[in-house]
Amino acid sequence: MYEDLTKKVINPDHKTFLSKQEIEAAINTVLKQINLNIKFFDNLYPAPATSQGIYRKISNTEWTNGFWTGILWLAFQYTQDPKYKRIAEKNIDSFEKRISQKIAVNHHDLGFLYTTSVVSDFKITGSENARQIALKAADCLVSRFQPNGGFIQAWGDLNDNNEYRLIIDSLMNIPLLYWAEQVTRNSKYGKIADQHYQNVINTVIRDNGSTYHTYYFDKQNGRPLKGMTKQGYSDDSSWARGQAWAVYGIPLHYKYRHKQEDFKLFRGVTNYFLNRLPKDFIPYWDLIFNDGDNQPKDSSSGAIAICGIAEMLKHLPESFSNKYEYVLLLHKMLRSLIDNYANNDLKPGAPLLNHGVYSWHSGKGVDEGNIWGDYFYFEALMRFYEDWKVFW
Ligand code: GLY
Repeated sequence: MYEDLTKKVINPDHKTFLSKQEIEAAINTVLKQINLNIKFFDNLYPAPATSQGIYRKISNTEWTNGFWTGILWLAFQYTQDPKYKRIAEKNIDSFEKRISQKIAVNHHDLGFLYTTSVVSDFKITGSENARQIALKAADCLVSRFQPNGGFIQAWGDLNDNNEYRLIIDSLMNIPLLYWAEQVTRNSKYGKIADQHYQNVINTVIRDNGSTYHTYYFDKQNGRPLKGMTKQGYSDDSSWARGQAWAVYGIPLHYKYRHKQEDFKLFRGVTNYFLNRLPKDFIPYWDLIFNDGDNQPKDSSSGAIAICGIAEMLKHLPESFSNKYEYVLLLHKMLRSLIDNYANNDLKPGAPLLNHGVYSWHSGKGVDEGNIWGDYFYFEALMRFYEDWKVFW
């Protein structure tokens, strides 16, 4: 049984709602930090997460490289300043090389990588080059499909029995396939995305709307086997970012497929997420934790969920239960990010958003900034600023 929404905003007043001026002020701070980082990264990219508040510089080899270029495209959309477009376009060459030479693409994160950097280019400029590069990435993602089970394998070698699984994050990778289907009119992309989506939904979402991070399949008969976590606290808990990937991934599926069933699923995973928000409306890194547990927050999960809920609000019917409460909670969450998590100590290599968690178990990026948190924070601000042209 999915939960009713229990997290409420009691007596909303004028301070609940963010004004256009407040959004513009937050974006102006973001732009100042981006300008510092353009010089700092030069031809390189930020590491996935900061170390002591500053990003290391890396080449185009991580699952996260698309976000920096996506940030540049957002800056261009907001300012129309050609300098951002120029740098974003320069990065496209390295994404072309990466997919043509198959550099570190042995995983499913082609959507994160190419939607924010290259599909965005195509949607903004109409570049045929960008279209071709993003289609190569879509083909690479399709090549990871396991027909026996009907899912796109997340990580590792396709013959590795220990990696015969899908993960919840993939909900953000399949929009690349829906986009590819749209621009090529080749249904193979959409068919694979549909099968994968259905299997993700059937396995990782529990009856109460909480989620598993990953789900294994039997390699022999293709049947779903068991849910396990990699980045969450435990197999039975709900990793906050995994839950947020579902809060955003389901609306993106709806955007392409218009399936009414998605509304119910969205309500299930979103209410579970929102009901566990602590006092400041930004989750701890796993939803098992709450105030008093002395655990770090994951600000990026808050930013991702804001984008997902904002996307679904465009599609939910007026009569949908709690639609107005979702709006109030969105304002509360984004205000909290602006007031309590946005970085105001601007310096070269610093993030836009503080207090995220990359991987608690491995100790990577714990209570640090991370580049997807930065990207989704800026996307959330853009969604509040205008009727944002969706990259996904
Ligand atoms: N997709 C990997 C992560 O969310 O950390």
